[in-house]
Amino acid sequence: MATAVAQPPLPVDVEIPADRLPPGPRLPATLVTLAWAFAPTWVMDRCAKRYGDTFTLTFAPSGRKLVMVSDPEAVKTVFTAPPEIAPSAAGVSPVAPIMGPSSVLTLIGPEHMRQRKLLLPPFHGERMREYEDVIVQATKNSMAQWPIGRPMRLASRTRGITLEVILRAVFGVEAERMGTLRDAIAGLLKESQTPALLLAALRRPTLERPTGAIGRALDHLDSVIYQEIARRREQEDLGERADIMSLLLLARDESGQEMTDSELRDELVTLLLAGHETTATAVAWAIERLIRHPQVLARLHAEIDVGEGDDYMQAVISETLRVRPVVPFVIRMLTEPFTVAGRELPVGTRIVPCIYLVNRNPRVYDAPTEFRPERFLEDPPETFSWIPFGGGIRRCIGASFATFEMKHILRTILRELAPSAPSRGPLFRRGEYNRRRAITLVPAGGTRVVWNRRARQ
Ligand code: HEM
Repeated sequence: MATAVAQPPLPVDVEIPADRLPPGPRLPATLVTLAWAFAPTWVMDRCAKRYGDTFTLTFAPSGRKLVMVSDPEAVKTVFTAPPEIAPSAAGVSPVAPIMGPSSVLTLIGPEHMRQRKLLLPPFHGERMREYEDVIVQATKNSMAQWPIGRPMRLASRTRGITLEVILRAVFGVEAERMGTLRDAIAGLLKESQTPALLLAALRRPTLERPTGAIGRALDHLDSVIYQEIARRREQEDLGERADIMSLLLLARDESGQEMTDSELRDELVTLLLAGHETTATAVAWAIERLIRHPQVLARLHAEIDVGEGDDYMQAVISETLRVRPVVPFVIRMLTEPFTVAGRELPVGTRIVPCIYLVNRNPRVYDAPTEFRPERFLEDPPETFSWIPFGGGIRRCIGASFATFEMKHILRTILRELAPSAPSRGPLFRRGEYNRRRAITLVPAGGTRVVWNRRARQ
């Protein structure tokens, strides 16, 4: 791993004439960009209605174009394309300088596969069960602070829970050390929500480390992580520890090399950032949907109370991730001409499997915008028409972890409490709309909820 090879360059600067790409809105790019910044789901819905499964969006001021696809066959074509022809474009996105050059999320080619293989084992089967107690305890600790009978916003609380869980899973560190790490991550996330990251996304790609407030928050996080790496390297009991960091410190590549400090840093930051806000938002969306669907909530409560099986819980989670996907799309960049949905796209095209639109494609799903977990009781989600975790060789490493975590957080909460809406105004049935938060879609009100204690079951 110390012998990292240089990344093949991506054709970021290729100018692509509009007539080589599928049609899209003819509005000025500035208007499209503004609409996208404030109402991305509205833009996607409108374009899908007007242009169908494939359309092109052009953004200002760079003129960058995204070719969105939402037909499952086209999505399959992209996700199963040879990785050297359609590599991920995450390495030239604004998250790249934060995650770092050795992050599994930003690497492409053989280096990506090597890091991915190293990271996968801690996320498999039995290992995840070791985190159950941590998840339940973190949820109970948070619940002890929640008001009963008065409104609160859930999303910030679920972020607290999942941060606790990912810190313990990754570092397994003692409680007092986690305080510093928690603060460092919270600082970075707070700074990353400012418009700075969106503005960076709209300019020409830069791989420079951020400056200003984000840069300072990143420096602080790095120094805490490097201290922890140095402390761990001194320890002799790594082989007996189950945390992800210890496993990575012991991992060796085919040539017997261990990971360097900077490679470790990049993977740890990636797991911390990719692994907690996403899951927290998904739990917040699940409660937001359950509040608006009392029959679903009642059926879920009944399954939890019986204490056997979790088919309905699984269906609720799948349906939440379908109808309210946290990550709305993923980007690949063509290094050779490539045909998708019957059209040859040129080198440099950013081709975008649009998770949000795929998951609500009316040709795949009945009543696609409705929240109906029952649809997944008989037929489990399909690989290329239910893609909240992406697909192909870049499918989310933490997908099982996230689902496992969601299940235990939801079960721990709902065993004790019943959620209801703070008010039943005209917006009640529609629920909270999608708001963009950095690269994710979150409930606009942060899931406003009133909790009531349930009678002892
Ligand atoms: C509900 C929760 C989550 C959602 C919706 C989600 C979504 C995604 C998506 C859509 C991708 C694909 C990106 C692409 O194709 O370019 C991805 C990749 C990734 N996710 Fe997640 N994720 C979640 C939870 C997690 C967790 C819990 C972890 C780790 C603890 C994690 C770690 C990663 C990593 C490392 C990658 C990069 C994989 C690669 O490029 O090979 N995610 N995630």
